[in-house]
Amino acid sequence: MKILMATSEAVPFAKTGGLADTVSSLSIALADLGHEVRIVLPRYYGIDRGGLRQLEGAMGVHAGGGEVWSAVYVADLPGSPQKNPVAVYFIDHEQFFGRDGIYGVPAEPDFLDNPRRFTFFCRAVFQLCRKVDWYPDVLHAHDWPAALTTVFLKFGERNGGFAHTASLFTIHNLGYQGIYSKDNYYYTNLDWDIFYSAGFDDWNMMNLLKAGLLSADKLSTVSPNYAWETQMGQHGFRMDGILRNRSKDYSGILNGIDTAVWNPKTDPFLPKPYSAEDMSGKAAAKEALQREFGLPGDPEVSLIGMVTRLTEQKGVGELFGPTYGSAWSICRDMNLQFVILGSGEAWCENELRSLSSRLSNFKARIGYSERLSHLVEGGSDFFLMPSRYEPCGLNQMYSLTYGTLPIVRNTGGLADTVENFNQETGSGTGFMFDDLTPQSIYNTLGWAVWAYYNRREQVEAMRLRGMARDFSWKKSAKKYIALYERMSPASGSS
Ligand code: ADP
Ligand code: GLC
Repeated sequence: MKILMATSEAVPFAKTGGLADTVSSLSIALADLGHEVRIVLPRYYGIDRGGLRQLEGAMGVHAGGGEVWSAVYVADLPGSPQKNPVAVYFIDHEQFFGRDGIYGVPAEPDFLDNPRRFTFFCRAVFQLCRKVDWYPDVLHAHDWPAALTTVFLKFGERNGGFAHTASLFTIHNLGYQGIYSKDNYYYTNLDWDIFYSAGFDDWNMMNLLKAGLLSADKLSTVSPNYAWETQMGQHGFRMDGILRNRSKDYSGILNGIDTAVWNPKTDPFLPKPYSAEDMSGKAAAKEALQREFGLPGDPEVSLIGMVTRLTEQKGVGELFGPTYGSAWSICRDMNLQFVILGSGEAWCENELRSLSSRLSNFKARIGYSERLSHLVEGGSDFFLMPSRYEPCGLNQMYSLTYGTLPIVRNTGGLADTVENFNQETGSGTGFMFDDLTPQSIYNTLGWAVWAYYNRREQVEAMRLRGMARDFSWKKSAKKYIALYERMSPASGSS
């Protein structure tokens, strides 16, 4: 099949979170199965043109009532099969993408012209296919920045080479919807009656994700449990009604992980490789992690790690807020070391700096580091994810693969991938709690640390059990293929 991924992020080119890992690793898995996969992405300023090849001639894209000119670059996706490489196209436009930041910068977290930037990008996707004379069977759009591609396909573009193209929209995070003033609608070049029939309207605003949810032929999200949760009020972010209505077109497929990148046997960021047969490299990783964060090099103490965007979604309000039971009490009351790597909301970054200066067993690194994220996964005993909601979550799967026990909230993909410890039987692969409160986090961390010191054999057995789990794309890539095969442009559109 010919599959085109429309996305705002893909590793190694542009990443703010798991979306980037997922799009690239899924594309590689599909190409490994013999399918023809291409990716289209904006050429952000941070993506060096040096490694890319420019396609001949500029491309005119109809947006905002005029024609917007852009260049197109192309490169092979690193890690994709040599015999069947995944081509990545980059839409280059100086005014929209020639600046730092993907969606924004700290001073302006959501660029004012984002609705126009991503409207232009989505329209350019169609022009690109015409330019290279390659038309997909499936247009697979990811999250709100690419949602408009499914709308454009349904309203106007489904002709010529696209006559038989079907669209799949995948929700990676329902918390981000792309809601903007209607003033930006003109930029889509769609008639005003389509504003209502496509479902853009949202309390007098324009909601890009909502129009995508109503226009795509099929919908999916990144874990079965989140597919179910999003059809309920609590996690539906006001889209639960639409998702319930479209439930026959909506499925949950668990993300896989790129086992070429996340593998303790081959990880170049670890001081020494390790596997279930020889775990000595994990002890070496723990020592390196302690050294890196300036903690005493004690092999016996329990070590808790976190790598995360510092946003409400990740439970940081409960973990680092000023309530009893939060990180401060945890580190003061328990025999443990705590390391965190993250960036995000300013209050939280400041709080982490403050905790690092007040507590000897707590160390934070503010920023983004691929290398350190691998070291935290490998060197920690436990990995904490107290997420408010988690569509899939990749870090708990990385943790299990690295023999690091996840401590997670029972939600979304975390519930699909982690099994709670049973201290009677010793079964399980991690520790779980239901309520998102400082007290529950405190209690569950306390339980994990207790098990670490008092149920050593069970804990070691859990590590090996987690490492034996298969989180590769093998199964899930086939599920996407089965879904693509069921798709036809006429089916499902509301
Ligand atoms: P989300 O996409 O919601 O942030 P995921 O668990 O799906 O959550 O994916 C997060 C990805 O981003 C993981 O690959 C994680 O290692 C990475 N990540 C998040 N913050 C950082 C950071 N500060 N440094 C390095 N990697 C990070
Ligand atoms: C989103 C979600 C995360 C998921 C990722 C990749 O960023 O927050 O849970 O793993 O997308 O699908």
